[in-house]
Amino acid sequence: MKVIVIGATGTIGAEIVTALAGHEVITVSRSAGEYRADIQDKASLEKLFAAIGEVDAIVSAAGGGAFKPITELSDEDYAFSLGYKLMGQINVIRTGMKYVRPGGSITVTSGTLARVAMPAAAAIGMINAGLEGFVRSAALDLKGKVRLNVVSPPWVAETLSGMGQDPAGGQKAADVAKAYVKVITGTATGQIIDSQTGKAV
Ligand SMILES: NC(=O)c1ccc[n+]([C@@H]2O[C@H](COP(=O)([O-])OP(=O)(O)OC[C@H]3O[C@@H](n4cnc5c(N)ncnc54)[C@H](OP(=O)(O)O)[C@@H]3O)[C@@H](O)[C@H]2O)c1
Repeated sequence: MKVIVIGATGTIGAEIVTALAGHEVITVSRSAGEYRADIQDKASLEKLFAAIGEVDAIVSAAGGGAFKPITELSDEDYAFSLGYKLMGQINVIRTGMKYVRPGGSITVTSGTLARVAMPAAAAIGMINAGLEGFVRSAALDLKGKVRLNVVSPPWVAETLSGMGQDPAGGQKAADVAKAYVKVITGTATGQIIDSQTGKAV
């Protein structure tokens, strides 16, 4: 399979690339990888997909949002969060879908904060849940011609370590990556896959 991984240099993305060994993987991010593109810049995505041509799968493991309590979230924080992890990944779907071979897939990334409450995570919960809602219905519109799915990771162990926290509460990035491989190589569409169980939520 020919697979584009956006966010390929990240904690999760690098492990997705490793887990896809044996496939033709094209690595993308804003500052490294075989190609450069910014998910917040639709023109850069159009240029990326046109340059690469038809593929079997596109993965996005990029995006973020504002981690602040509601009492501190500004208009700019909301706009940033919506524009980055939510609309950025929807941009990947909207621009990438015409370059995916029939039955191929686009997989984007949310997170368990769509369903699990945590202080200072209101904006992140909003964009994760929004992305999941978008994919469930958009997948129906595409009728399986392009399969759309979301992988929902919990805190990643390496990320917790980087924040000086106990990694035991998180899932190793290499294990998170297995959920992407499962949806890319499977037949699922419109699913939100919990990377811890490997099952749809
Ligand atoms: N790590 C966690 O604990 C965790 C938990 C749940 C969900 N997630 C989600 O999983 C995804 C990946 O997280 P991560 O921890 O692996 O992130 P990360 O380590 O910060 O890596 C992000 C990757 O995406 C690229 N990237 C960032 N902004 C981009 C943009 N605008 N356009 C294109 N590429 C961009 C980065 O490279 P450049 O900076 O060079 O572009 C890098 O390759 C995110 O959506 C995150 O919210 C993470």
